[in-house]
Amino acid sequence: MKPGPITCSATNPEFSVSTRPQPTDRAAASSPLPFLPFTRPTIDDETIAGVAEVLRSGWITSGPQVKALEAKLSEYCGGRPVRVFNSGTCTMEIALRIAGIGPGHEVITTPLTWVATSNIILDVGARPVFVDIDPVTRNIDLARVEAAITPATRAIIPVDLSGLPVDRSRLYAIAQKHQLRVIEDAAQSFGSNWQGQRIGSFGDFVSFSFHANKNITTIEGGCLVMNNEREAKLAEQYRLQGVVRTGHDGMEVELVGGKFNLTDVAARVGLGQLPHLDTFTARRRELARMYFDQCAKLALAQLGLRLPVADFTHSNWHMFQVILPEERLTIKRAEVMTLLQAAGIGTGVHYPAIHLFKLYRNLGWKDGDYPQAEYTGRNILTLPLFPAMTGDDVKRVTAALSQILQAHQKS
Ligand SMILES: Cc1ncc(COP(=O)(O)O)c(C=O)c1O
Repeated sequence: MKPGPITCSATNPEFSVSTRPQPTDRAAASSPLPFLPFTRPTIDDETIAGVAEVLRSGWITSGPQVKALEAKLSEYCGGRPVRVFNSGTCTMEIALRIAGIGPGHEVITTPLTWVATSNIILDVGARPVFVDIDPVTRNIDLARVEAAITPATRAIIPVDLSGLPVDRSRLYAIAQKHQLRVIEDAAQSFGSNWQGQRIGSFGDFVSFSFHANKNITTIEGGCLVMNNEREAKLAEQYRLQGVVRTGHDGMEVELVGGKFNLTDVAARVGLGQLPHLDTFTARRRELARMYFDQCAKLALAQLGLRLPVADFTHSNWHMFQVILPEERLTIKRAEVMTLLQAAGIGTGVHYPAIHLFKLYRNLGWKDGDYPQAEYTGRNILTLPLFPAMTGDDVKRVTAALSQILQAHQKS
């Protein structure tokens, strides 16, 4: 029998809460239904065969597949230079280095993101400056950005949480006015657009992640979209030990680079994913609509549940995230997650507010600094959403959540 497309759970420890137990493990859940993880990549047979071909080819690290993926991504991004890397973290660090950002500089970003976004600012020796989020979009509140700009500010890193794009018109107006570089952390927004223009096809630096839980994957990996060939050449140097090769035997090193190259095996996975992007995005939007319909039917808003922005034109619906009403519930988010897990439903937390992590507290941040990000970070919950899900899965998740919310309302 021909094997079907592979769907598997993401394995990054970031997602460990929802990927344990595995989809086939019913023992840990009292539900008779198969475990529903919060995300799961879909990889078709052609891609699997393509990976086998690469493995047999004798060239498995960076080579022709990487070049082919870069060409396809550049085409997707309107011809802009694109280089691929082994993560969507190093892409942003390299962008900061290309922009000459380092000690003595400040970089503005959101406190509600994967900690990679601000860790890379520390990595280059600069200081993150957090600006609280807009509680509706859950993205950086652009109305507060200008007040955070100082003579030391060099860049802004906006994050499109769950794929909902930050307002690019307003963002670039601020950046231009204050002559700041922008490094778009578009890790989650591959496939999203701003007023019809694909994210990645315009703007300054744009960084995408292709980690296993993203809308398209290279298992681990990412890419950086740049402005010109000079930046692309620098990116190649930072990607591999600073090395520049010429002719058959020429080698020079002018700067300290790292080891951030993507393998051909991973690139082949990405090449097999790209043709499905539009179908994946359309299916995610459809499922998101079903979530809104079910939440309305079950009157979950009346139980205090806060839903994401109902955007079906810009967002790629990387995640469907709700905010639990902590002031109305007798239980905390962790208990809600445990109860959903017992019902065979995986959930995730994306993300706790960064400035409250020990590393950041030790650098001077404290409770109360960014109240919107703190509240959201304490109560945000990622529900299952991936292209292979069914409408019945959505009904199952919303029904379970409704039952939990009703059973644990404060009197
Ligand atoms: C918002 C955001 N930024 C950065 C990253 C880092 O990407 P990667 O895991 O590919 O390094 C991620 C990945 O989860 C992310 O979601």
